[in-house]
Formats: sequence, C-alpha cells, structure tokens
Amino acid sequence: MPTSPAAPVDLRALGRTGLAVSPITLGASGLGRDVPAGDPAEPEAVSLAAAMLHGPYAIVDTSNVYAGGHSERILGLALAETGAAPGRQVVTKVDADPETGAFDRDRVLRSFEESLSRLGVDRVSLLHLHDPYGIDFEDAMGTGGAVSGLLELRESGAVDAIGIAAGKVSVVSRYVESDCFDVLLTHNRYTLLERRALVLLEAAKARGMGVFNAAPFGGALLARGSASGATYAYRSAPAQVLERVRQLEQICARHGVELPTAALQFSLRSPWVDSTVVGISRPERIADLEFRRQVVVSEELWAEIDALGPPPEAVAD
Ligand SMILES: NC(=O)c1ccc[n+]([C@@H]2O[C@H](COP(=O)([O-])OP(=O)(O)OC[C@H]3O[C@@H](n4cnc5c(N)ncnc54)[C@H](OP(=O)(O)O)[C@@H]3O)[C@@H](O)[C@H]2O)c1
Repeated sequence: MPTSPAAPVDLRALGRTGLAVSPITLGASGLGRDVPAGDPAEPEAVSLAAAMLHGPYAIVDTSNVYAGGHSERILGLALAETGAAPGRQVVTKVDADPETGAFDRDRVLRSFEESLSRLGVDRVSLLHLHDPYGIDFEDAMGTGGAVSGLLELRESGAVDAIGIAAGKVSVVSRYVESDCFDVLLTHNRYTLLERRALVLLEAAKARGMGVFNAAPFGGALLARGSASGATYAYRSAPAQVLERVRQLEQICARHGVELPTAALQFSLRSPWVDSTVVGISRPERIADLEFRRQVVVSEELWAEIDALGPPPEAVAD
C-alpha cells in the first residue's frame, strides 16, 4: 500500500458544503482510458489510482463518463485493494445517457447508481451535474428534469452537496444563478491564457458556493510549453495564443520559474478558487505538483504577466 501523509495538506472549506479540500485536487479524466477490465495495463492504472487516493490531496475528481466508465471502475478497484488514506475521497459527476443522450431526473438517478456500483461505495459527498450541453436549461430545471434528480439526492442525504461542472460560461452562469448548487467546477477558462470564467468565480463565491478551477494547464499547453505542439482546451492553439505562451515563457525564464509552476500558481493564488483540479496520468506527477505548489514566485512575475494585458481568446465560449 502506498504511504501517505497523515492528513491531506492545507485543508480549507469548500464553500458552505461542509467538505474540506486541499489546494490541489487530482483529476482522473484520463484514468483507465483504453483499459478494459482484465487488460494487462489494469494493474498499472490501479496503482495510479491508489497513489491518488493516498497522496497529499483530499479529493480525486472523476465522472460517470470518464474513460467510458473505466475511470470510476479503476478507482473502485483501488478503493477495494488499498482503501483511501484518511480524509481522502472520490467525488463524481452525473452524465447524460451515452446511448440515448437522455439527461433527465431518471437518468441522473441511474447515473448516480452506476457510479456507486463502479466505485464500490454507498454514497459520495459531492455529486456534480456534468456538461449539461445537450439539454435546455428550462428542461433541466423543470419537473422531472436533471436538477430535480440532484436535489432529490441531496434532500434524501444520498449526497451532501451538488455541483455544476462544465466549461461554457454562458451555460454555467444560469446554473450558478439558479441558487440550487453548492459547488462550481469550471475548466480551462481561468488560467494564464484565459480569464473569462472570472465572472462565474465571483458569482459563485458571492453565493457561498465552493469553487474548483480545473485544467490550469489548459489540458497540457501551459505544462508542456509553446514548442510542444500541445493543445489548449483540447484544441490546437491558434498562432496568437502560442505567441502569448512564448511571452509567458520569457517572463518565467527571467524570474527563474518554470511555466507549469506559474500556470499552477496562477490558480492556487486566486482568492476565488478553493481547489485547483489537475489531471495526471502517472504517479510521479503528484510529487511534481507538490514541489511546484511550494515554489516561491515573486510578485514581480505576476505584475509582468498583468502588464501583458488581456490574453487573446484561447477558447470559444
Ligand atoms: N466539465 C468538467 O467537469 C471538467 C472538464 C475538464 C477537466 N475537468 C477535471 O479537471 C482535470 C484536469 O483537467 P485536464 O487534465 O484536462 O487539464 P490540466 O490539468 O490542465 O492538464 C493535465 C495535463 O498536464 C500534463 N502535465 C501536468 N504536469 C506536467 C508537467 N510538469 N510537465 C508536462 N506535462 C504536465 C499532464 O500530463 P500527464 O498526463 O503526463 O500526467 C496532463 O496530461 C480533469 O482530469 C478532470 O478531473 C473537469
């Protein structure tokens, strides 16, 4: 079994939820990708999941749909084999039916049951509504809609808190303003390259919601750098975005700070963000993140980045 610090690091409240989070949350969207049950790669994936569950951070973030359900399945195998260290837990998300696209109350309850069964647990503390792009907001909020399923689960005590987890600001803002949700998870939109989620972060905080900011590296470009060919928000980066990354690299180099460290700390230092969700696909990333979290970055670096002015548009809303 992996060794782990006694308690997760630097715990803080996740808004009004009563849950405690570390400054970093580990994202499991890639866990179990192309690893069907019994695959030779399964033990390695389970070891990664166990390392996440015994690492320095309180929460592992997954969803019903990640890796076609294998992310939850692999986490379930790790939970059965090694358990989780004290204070660590998995949170998940409900997703539309992958066959029919249905995303109503009944699908929310089924999605939740699927997740519990794969994870081998009888409850989760926090359950998000994930990427509700295929449904109208009015349908989601109406009788028999997806949100009524989540409210039912919270009222029954099956979960402690519910969240909205999605990217598009124009969609997410309506869910935040509904005052039904305890938590916001936004992604790729509050980074060294994007600020458009700031309005959401402010609205969520004003309501006492907890805030996760996911994908501080934009899925990789801000970790791997301008010359890597890496994507931003899962799309190839336009020339003006790559030019901004080169400018960021020059500023970082002048201050002796690596770009991924600045990208991570941009989110960590935000007063709007309770926890920053980072995706990893190998255990050694955990120590790397812990190292980067603790690097001292000078205020001058942030001032030089601010002086660049608003970043070019890196994501279409
Ligand atoms: N709608 C939603 O709810 C939603 C949407 C997006 C994301 N999320 C959550 O947020 C998590 C994070 O998002 P993400 O994984 O897309 O983006 P991310 O955290 O910005 O980027 C993760 C990528 O950065 C790479 N990386 C990390 N440190 C590195 C380093 N020092 N050098 C080079 N590469 C490095 C990782 O590489 P390796 O693979 O090599 O470790 C991984 O591929 C997801 O796993 C998911 O849990 C949720």
